[in-house]
Parts: sequence; C-alpha cells; structure tokens
Amino acid sequence: MATRNGTRSNTRSERSAFSWGSTGAIAGVALGGAALAIAANIGRKLAVQGLSASKGEWDASLAAEHDMVLALFDKMLETDETQTTKRKMLLMKLGHALDKHAYAEEHVIYPALRESNDVAEAKQLEGEHGEVKTFLHRLNNMKTDAPEWAATVREFRDSVEAHARLEEDEIFPRLRAGVGDEMNRKLTRELNMAGFMMA
Ligand SMILES: [Fe+2]
Ligand SMILES: [Fe+2]
Repeated sequence: MATRNGTRSNTRSERSAFSWGSTGAIAGVALGGAALAIAANIGRKLAVQGLSASKGEWDASLAAEHDMVLALFDKMLETDETQTTKRKMLLMKLGHALDKHAYAEEHVIYPALRESNDVAEAKQLEGEHGEVKTFLHRLNNMKTDAPEWAATVREFRDSVEAHARLEEDEIFPRLRAGVGDEMNRKLTRELNMAGFMMA
C-alpha cells in the first residue's frame, strides 16, 4: 500500500513536475515567440521605412516613394490577363504603398500646408487622395482578368503621376522654402515616424 501510494505519489509528483515544467516551457516559448515576433515586426518596419528615410529629407523621401509607386504601376501594366495571381499580389503591394504614403502626407505635410495658409492646395491634394482610394476600391472589386483591368490601371497611374508631379514640382518646394530649417527638420522626423507606424 505504502509502496503503491508512494508510487502513485511519485507518479503524481513526476506528472506534476512534468506538467508545470511543460507549462512553464510552453509559456517561455510563447513569450520568447511573441518577443521575437515583435522584434521581427520592428525590424521589418525599420527596413521598409528605412528605404524612404534613407533618401534624405521629407520631400526627397516622398519623391522616392512616388518613384517606387509608379514603378509598381509599370509592373502591373507589363502583365497580361493570364497572370491573375501576379496582378493580385502587385495590387496588394500598391494598395499598401499608397496607404502608407497617404497616411504620412495627410498627418504631417498637408497639416503643415494648412498652417502655412496653403489651405486650397491642401484641400485639392486631399481630394486627389480620395480619388486614389476610389481607384483602389474599383480595382479591388474587379476580376484581375477583366478586359477593363489594364485600362483602369493605366488611368489610375496617370492620375497618381499628375498628383505626384504637382506635389514634387510646385507645392512641396514652396512649402520647403516657406518654412525654416528647423521646421523642415521637424517635418522629416514626423514623416519618418508616421511612415514607420504604417510600414
Ligand atoms: Fe499626395
Ligand atoms: Fe505624394
């Protein structure tokens, strides 16, 4: 009896030890996994935003993103209707790049335009971002082998290029020249932070 109890007791004790050890180990692995996932996500964000930030100040970094987005459009226009998976992947990439870019402009640069009394320009650019979202919605609801897919992408590209030209050639240089060095440095810091949040 004593032996059986002892055996049972030992077994319980072993089970208990195993059970706690296992739970602790699982919890440890889960916590380690979560920490790794957070670290990996921060690393990914730094890598994504680092590409834009490495271009220099806020206007150069936004111009680099314009080039990157236009190159994505070109890749989309090189596909044919049989490449449906590639079209879906490129559209997803384009949507993410445009969302990140628009977020940073709408939270940092367009408010700075309003504060510099360029309210009409800020309103116009915000309205054009609305058109971008409309194009994305239209394409996200269109089959990637639809006959009108390429023409819609072409129209979308033209619209984004005109918007980018207006920002790069007229509105951003005027804002940059109108605020001091300190404000330009602040805009660069804020833009990098906004881009990092959305990366
Ligand atoms: Fe914009
Ligand atoms: Fe832009």
